[in-house]
Amino acid sequence: MAQLIGGLATSHIPAIGNAIHKGLQNEPYWAPFFAGYPPVQQWLGAQKPDVVVMFYNDHGLNFFLDKMPTFAVGAAAQYNNADEGWGIPTLPPFKGEVDLSWQIINHLVGQDFDMVTCQEMLVDHACTLPLKLFWPEGEAPVTIVPVNINTVQFPLPSAKRVYALGRAVGEAIAAWDSSKKVVVCASGGLSHQLDGERAGFINKAFDLQFMDSLVSNPEWATQFSTLDLVEKTGTQGVELLMWLAMRAALTVAGPAVKEVHRNYHIPISNTATGLMAFEVA
Ligand code: DHB
Ligand code: FE
Repeated sequence: MAQLIGGLATSHIPAIGNAIHKGLQNEPYWAPFFAGYPPVQQWLGAQKPDVVVMFYNDHGLNFFLDKMPTFAVGAAAQYNNADEGWGIPTLPPFKGEVDLSWQIINHLVGQDFDMVTCQEMLVDHACTLPLKLFWPEGEAPVTIVPVNINTVQFPLPSAKRVYALGRAVGEAIAAWDSSKKVVVCASGGLSHQLDGERAGFINKAFDLQFMDSLVSNPEWATQFSTLDLVEKTGTQGVELLMWLAMRAALTVAGPAVKEVHRNYHIPISNTATGLMAFEVA
């Protein structure tokens, strides 16, 4: 059976791609953000996962407001990145892990999740940036399964539902007939709001409490309604639902996880950035 070896979570912001492209990693503005990643890169170098299951939200590249699935899974052999308007080079295509895609889709539909399946899928900064941050040199040495969770257009799935989805994805990985090593990854958050009266809103106290909860009390955030989460984290801060899905997947491997590393830095662009890595205990 496949081995679920750990979980990762990171913020995604298009400006990060621009900073990488321009080589700004050691500039004073960027250094505290990029300094978080080498310990996770080293952990990945030692663990050598084969596959990344990426929980993320598309921002209008693949799904626009006219067609917005609540949950969608990629089942493609290849995922192309495309220009999102920054004028920076797009990344080379990512290879899909098609067999695991269908294993996840079959398991989720079997568990009464009504999934959208995508045999063609463009991937935006939310899917590509974590891979670039974790494997900065060349192409990431992994195949991927993108799992999209709508945090863009209301109504959004509840934290409780996202937790259940993450848990079911973990079950599907654990039951996958393969000798491959899999990590689950969350892309998004932490607190941020890009528009409206509260543009620039950040909630450090809540972010830190949320990060702590993921270590020892992973269901903690499921007590909150979607509107509670918007109030506490901002209209885009609800992307932290990805972190909840990732952590729920790890509960399948056992009750405890080891925290490998974390970083928290405010701000990059309008966002409070977080990074966490967990190893299955
Ligand atoms: C920003 C943050 C995001 O999560 C995103 O998807 C786009 C932009 C920002 O802070 O600029
Ligand atoms: Fe985002």
